[in-house]
Amino acid sequence: MRVMVVGGGGREHALCWGLGASPLCSALFCAPGNAGIADVATCLPVNSDDLAGLVAAAQKEKIDFVIVGPEAPLVAGLVDRLAAAGIKSFGPTAKAARLEGSKAFMKDFFNRHCIPTAAYGRFTDAAKAKAFIDQKGAPIVVKADGLAAGKGVILCEDIAEAHAAVDSMMTDKIFGAAGNEIVVEEFLEGEEASFFALVDGAVALPLVAAQDHKAVGDGDTGPNTGGMGAYSPAPIIDAGMQTRIMAEVIMPTVRGMAAEGAPFKGVLFAGLMITKDGPKTLEFNVRFGDPECEVLMARLKSDLLPALIAAVDGQLKNFDLRWRDEAAVAVIMAAEGYPGTPKNGTIIAGLDAAAKVEGVTVFHAGTKAELRDGKAVIVANGGRVLAVTATGKTVTEAQARAYRGVDAIRWPEGFCRRDIGWRAVAREQKS
Ligand code: AMP
Ligand code: GLY
Repeated sequence: MRVMVVGGGGREHALCWGLGASPLCSALFCAPGNAGIADVATCLPVNSDDLAGLVAAAQKEKIDFVIVGPEAPLVAGLVDRLAAAGIKSFGPTAKAARLEGSKAFMKDFFNRHCIPTAAYGRFTDAAKAKAFIDQKGAPIVVKADGLAAGKGVILCEDIAEAHAAVDSMMTDKIFGAAGNEIVVEEFLEGEEASFFALVDGAVALPLVAAQDHKAVGDGDTGPNTGGMGAYSPAPIIDAGMQTRIMAEVIMPTVRGMAAEGAPFKGVLFAGLMITKDGPKTLEFNVRFGDPECEVLMARLKSDLLPALIAAVDGQLKNFDLRWRDEAAVAVIMAAEGYPGTPKNGTIIAGLDAAAKVEGVTVFHAGTKAELRDGKAVIVANGGRVLAVTATGKTVTEAQARAYRGVDAIRWPEGFCRRDIGWRAVAREQKS
């Protein structure tokens, strides 16, 4: 099979790394890819939001199967366009991708299908949003309706801050058109986890769970990012909790989407808050998480490709995936300035030394190969730049190895959090 992955981040590097090893895969392409992906796939110079260009590239390279990594092309309808061109692809249609593309659609969907979530209101009028905030009180959460690269959520400790969040989204448009409509919702207390299921339109196969760290700073402080690190397994999701999540969140969603004429195929990624009353859904994503995908791929023992094909073909029933018992931790190294404007083009050295650390794989999230003074170098090209991923017997061991990998990298303009996995490490130390 000739396979093409769409995207150019750490998630896509991990997917290519896994897919390239499949005996079913005879040729692997990635559009646009990055400097790390170029080691395992042929990179095509087409951006992940250039739908016409992607369809043309898939036709030109005679691709049999496309895997779409990021949400934006899914929401824009890439899977529909590929289908129209007769090319099989993994991911939801535009209609099904609204689960992630519009928070307002998602919240109303939760209501229609009794899926547990935070109480909310949706607004296109700033004054009405503020009146709702005054009535509900703080803490409270203000969210842009549309896609905002994981940054469109502001957690507000008091009412003044919530009013300011409304103004910044609706008047100052800090997230552009994504803030034309906003959702204001109840603040939920608990521990967060990311739950993944492979879905074929009717059947859902749970994958392993993970936890990520959204805040930029140690101790979960500072502004939100797309994710500064992840680990798996997630101790808060034991077998009993997984059963509840499948019954209360995933299956009602799969049935609800099918009943509404938009059957969901692809990865359903539920961002959950595990509260004292059970799991509540913060959000749905319609793709693998990044950097959650890196830890999932590090733990996956089975061949990924047949599982993705089974999801597209509606054949997940009786399908099974095997996972390593080992834990995995991914630490994101980001460029100075992230999640604001990152500094690009700085040279990264020591990648080979990092990859030699036991258990470590370095996935590239935003890199480019360049010639500097006649020498080939790898430079930073994005906010999140590397995902240093390690496996180990425990999260504690995987974490230690990942930071040994990080410490082998010489990149003064990069930074990372030093506490990825702290909740699991604290639990392991107690037991
Ligand atoms: P989202 O993009 O909707 O997942 O939100 C980003 C992050 O904001 C989540 O991962 C949570 O850490 C936090 N968050 C979102 N909604 C809530 C809520 N209702 N209560 C508490 N924290 C929230
Ligand atoms: N790490 C969270 C996400 O991919 O949205």
